[in-house]
Amino acid sequence: MPGAAVIGLQWGDEAKGKIVDILTDRNDIVVRYQGGANAGHTVVFGGENYKLSLIPSGIFRSNVQSVIAGGVVIDPKSLLDEIDSLTARGVNIEKNLIISDRAHLIFPWHKIEDKIMDTANGHEAIGTTMRGIGPCYQDKVSRSLAIRVGDMFKSEFHSRIEYITGIKNRRFEVLSRYLNRGINLSDLDIELDAKRIVDEYSKLAERMRPYICDTTNYLLDAVDADKRILFEGAQGSLLDIDHGTFPFVTSSNSSGGGISSGSGVPPKFISKILGVVKAYSTRVGGGPFPTEQDNEAGELLRNKGNEYGTVTKRPRRCGWFDAAAVRYAARLGGVDSISLMLLDVLSGFDILQICTAYNINGRIFNHFPSHTEDLRLAIPIYETLPGWDEDISEIKNYDQLPSNAKYYIKRISELVGKKVEIVSVGADREKTIFLT
Ligand code: IMO
Ligand code: MG
Repeated sequence: MPGAAVIGLQWGDEAKGKIVDILTDRNDIVVRYQGGANAGHTVVFGGENYKLSLIPSGIFRSNVQSVIAGGVVIDPKSLLDEIDSLTARGVNIEKNLIISDRAHLIFPWHKIEDKIMDTANGHEAIGTTMRGIGPCYQDKVSRSLAIRVGDMFKSEFHSRIEYITGIKNRRFEVLSRYLNRGINLSDLDIELDAKRIVDEYSKLAERMRPYICDTTNYLLDAVDADKRILFEGAQGSLLDIDHGTFPFVTSSNSSGGGISSGSGVPPKFISKILGVVKAYSTRVGGGPFPTEQDNEAGELLRNKGNEYGTVTKRPRRCGWFDAAAVRYAARLGGVDSISLMLLDVLSGFDILQICTAYNINGRIFNHFPSHTEDLRLAIPIYETLPGWDEDISEIKNYDQLPSNAKYYIKRISELVGKKVEIVSVGADREKTIFLT
């Protein structure tokens, strides 16, 4: 069975990039299959820090093929900027990256729509990354105004942009008037001028051309040849469009359900799923977050963990580990084991809390509520554990960890119901403890 996957089990930013990078050398191919430039994956090695948004975290190994599959939504400018900045740092992209001709393209109108429509229930902000992700997936699903990567090289590309621009401009006029949220289109800094967009995207298309192919066919051939494929999830399971904290979610299946639809590789070839979690919780943007610590403890987590968005630089909301939420995500993703990340950030806390269940209107919930209103009312039921003072960032073996840190790992494993396979004690590749 050739396929393995790495997925986030919280609200994103679990340090999936580090785990993908580590596992890459055991694989032939690394695939991004959903999301877009809303993702911010960090890989650190040899004293260098690399930030990736669209390009798979496997790109640093020259013998591994990186694939951006059809389920990803691609902002060409953002992609080419990423390619340029990695190339300038000596990373060889040309030979190692292929991009699906089925992936959908993000256009300037999607970013404008993201700004105008970033609201749940008409009043509360979702707090999106403003990268046009939701509007692009919306156009994909509704079909009539969508443009895919492969369309860039067909004869109707220019006329489609002109047609869509006309419709979108009319729509913005109406929406901005109707929503009356103080958004002035002229403030959005983008003039939807069809000719300008045609010129810009034609140039971007030519630069993308060498990377583009039918990645579905490529991956199906790889499956037949028994190649080892690693699937790199973006975002986290609790941001999944169907199973997350809707509507405060992203617009793709980030819980693992999107692997097959996004890549074309049938589910039966994916034999191992590794769930990645932080040793505490964070969330960017709006939506319920039961274990949030909007206090000194949260501030300490934010400072020690440098919890600021890779993509948007927003301070992340921080809180205690939520085992009830992660247990749900681990079952949903069918994960085999867990990678526990950023454990070093917890050094120095007198006590640590883990949420084991919720109290909602006097009823105990051991499962994750399906409606955000219930989750908003959820009072976490905590188990309190002793902390540790030692700096653990140089520790290489599980046995050398302070006993309270070992106990913390053990309780997470028990409460989530999965074994912990990897513990990370720092961003660098080297700062990784493998438990066998
Ligand atoms: P990685 O891959 C953390 C969040 C946004 C917002 C919601 C919807 O780095 O884990 P979107 O722009 O996707 O429509 O925003 O989802 N979000 C993420 N949060 N990490 C991410 O990716 C995220 N991608 C989207 O903050 O709340
Ligand atoms: Mg992120």
